[in-house]
Amino acid sequence: MDPPQHVPLWLTSAPLTIYPELKKDISADVAVIGGGITGLATALLLQRSGVKVVVLEANHIGCGVTGASTAKVTALHGMIYNHIANQFGSEAARNYAEANQAGLKLIASFASEAKALGIDCQYERKPAITFTQDKGRVNEVRQEAKAAKNAGLAASFLTEAGLPFDIDGAVRVENQSQIDPYQLCHALARLFWKAGGEIYEETRVQDVTCANPHSNCQVQTKGQKLEVEHVVLGTLIPFLDRGGFFARTSPSRSYGIAVTLNETAPDGMFINIDTPRRSIRSISNGRGLIVVGEQHKTGQVTDTHACYQALESWTKQWFSVRSIDYRWSAQDYLSVDSLPYIGKIPQGNDRMWTATGFNKWGLTTGAAAAIMLTDMLKGNTHPWSELFSPSRIDILPSVKKLVTENTNVLKHYVGDRLQALNSPEIEQLASGEAALVKNNGERVAAYRDESGEVHVCSAICPHMGCYVQWNTAELSWDCPCHGSRFDYTGKLLQGPAVDGLNYSSIKHK
Ligand code: FES
Repeated sequence: MDPPQHVPLWLTSAPLTIYPELKKDISADVAVIGGGITGLATALLLQRSGVKVVVLEANHIGCGVTGASTAKVTALHGMIYNHIANQFGSEAARNYAEANQAGLKLIASFASEAKALGIDCQYERKPAITFTQDKGRVNEVRQEAKAAKNAGLAASFLTEAGLPFDIDGAVRVENQSQIDPYQLCHALARLFWKAGGEIYEETRVQDVTCANPHSNCQVQTKGQKLEVEHVVLGTLIPFLDRGGFFARTSPSRSYGIAVTLNETAPDGMFINIDTPRRSIRSISNGRGLIVVGEQHKTGQVTDTHACYQALESWTKQWFSVRSIDYRWSAQDYLSVDSLPYIGKIPQGNDRMWTATGFNKWGLTTGAAAAIMLTDMLKGNTHPWSELFSPSRIDILPSVKKLVTENTNVLKHYVGDRLQALNSPEIEQLASGEAALVKNNGERVAAYRDESGEVHVCSAICPHMGCYVQWNTAELSWDCPCHGSRFDYTGKLLQGPAVDGLNYSSIKHK
């Protein structure tokens, strides 16, 4: 068996988009920052309501978390409905279901438009299933089926799910869907561009200033300025620390593999609630499977090879695997109360908007966010806005989680500094090894490659100063505080940082 390619399966379905880099100062009504599902869907809906929109993407369209998604388009998000009904009330649960069903419907209509453009998004209707193999949790699953049904979904409780192993209970929701998210992004970008919209790639925004509610915002890229009335941050996590999102979300990585089977894949999109967590869906006309799991806080697991190995063993245990074709990882942000934040950014002077904290369900909720943001930017109130408001007060059980998350960040900020006193010397690094080491008395992040060359980066994340940690499988330095990531030459892979790590290379044995 050949080793799997280390790239998200979806990114192999089309070449990179080629839109220009921003090289002059411009103005528009709205700047949308981020070219994933949230940004592109928002840009397109705003454009269709007569607004002049510019999309700014730091890399290429669809290459961030959207292109690495499992791409389940569903309103069934694990075990969310009982939680929402208990914490926020039954009307809130209905709003959550309605928002996500609307997101699902919007993606279905985008997939039809894509087809007319000659882009096949592999859109298929499938049931979504949340299951347990733990007898002790069956009642919980039964409650979830009831709560999802009360919220308006076509949900039922089952004890059989069509999987190659026994389950003890499941919630099944009919008529959900799955898609190729990268082709979808290509299609949305093309629709937007063809209708006169401007997209700028490889254009990283460094700062946004909206000085007061009565004047326009200034968006600063490396070298250029945009003047706009409103700014939408569709960047997974807002890179500007306004609204306290760094304290109210936590970055989480998970791992995926795509395999070819010797058999037909189960018909549906599945996720369990047990440990280890596994999310699966079919691909390639049912002859392949995506398996996702092994989630952990970013920067807090070093041996990430083990995450892929665990996924591969589990998949081979239950399915007849002909080949493991692709492996990749992705990053999501989890909110403290399990609801995303969609709407006006507090302290954004009524001109900055965001959608973040999707809790790994960003494809459907990102589309729902586009509907809401478009409405709200036009000055309308939206029936779902209160539930998702970034200004909502975190209720008591969430406050406990909030404290835990921030204690974790503080532990890394302070604890990693104390550990720095005991760092080994740079000369002690073996080939293929990386660590925080001492170099001329200074603590640095260093990786010695197989040729013996040592790649030395600053060990301190430029976002807010936490020490970065090594990620063996991705050869990256990951920040355990808010999830910024850098390659071994210090190049920024993922914000909220907007700059890379200082880098130098030492050629010695
Ligand atoms: Fe915030 Fe590194 S991402 S300190």
